[in-house]
Amino acid sequence: MPYMNEKNIVYHHATVTRARRERLNGHKSVVVWFTGFSGSGKSTLAHRIEEELHQKEVRTFVFDGDNVRHGLCADLGFSAADRTENIRRIAEMCKLFVEGGITSFGAFISPYREQRKLVRDIVGASDFIEIFCDCSLELCELRDKKGIYKRARTGEIGEFTGISSPYERPENPDLILDTGNISLEECATSVISLLADRGIIKG
Ligand code: ADX
Repeated sequence: MPYMNEKNIVYHHATVTRARRERLNGHKSVVVWFTGFSGSGKSTLAHRIEEELHQKEVRTFVFDGDNVRHGLCADLGFSAADRTENIRRIAEMCKLFVEGGITSFGAFISPYREQRKLVRDIVGASDFIEIFCDCSLELCELRDKKGIYKRARTGEIGEFTGISSPYERPENPDLILDTGNISLEECATSVISLLADRGIIKG
């Protein structure tokens, strides 16, 4: 990854700081990161939570794999290296959003532990909440809303997570949601309660 020569770049510090933005908003900002198989409910859940938080006047934004890969990450595929670059770009974006006082949701398969650690490192551990959408591959494949597993099974799509590419389960996530069996409503409530318990939003 070609980085610019940092010696020639001077960081400009804003007078409108994150703390001032958070005060103005009346809530803190964090990155809530959903990981799990394609079809495990990450994006659906993130949007459901966002809807509820918006109604509570919390500033939010959802990033998800399918959307981001149409623009910011349109040049990337699904090799391990490309997935890492995908996640790195999103992590940097989420970090900027947090600085802007906005709670951002990342809904990405992010299959490797190293990649999720990268997000934690970029964002900062105290601003990062990892949520594992623990839906079995069997169930994701059974649902197959996008018809994508079928294409992965025939080999039309290669390096597909769970089929021809690995998924490493999180070892110590902040929350595990059994999204295959628990309702969307219940999952959303668990996440919102966690945010309230941590003092990010008002209870
Ligand atoms: S990640 O591995 O880099 O985190 P990301 O979440 O951005 O993946 O994108 C996953 C989405 O891309 C899936 O929901 C699926 O619709 C689509 N997709 C296309 N090809 C693949 C593939 N080979 N593996 C996984 N998902 C794929």
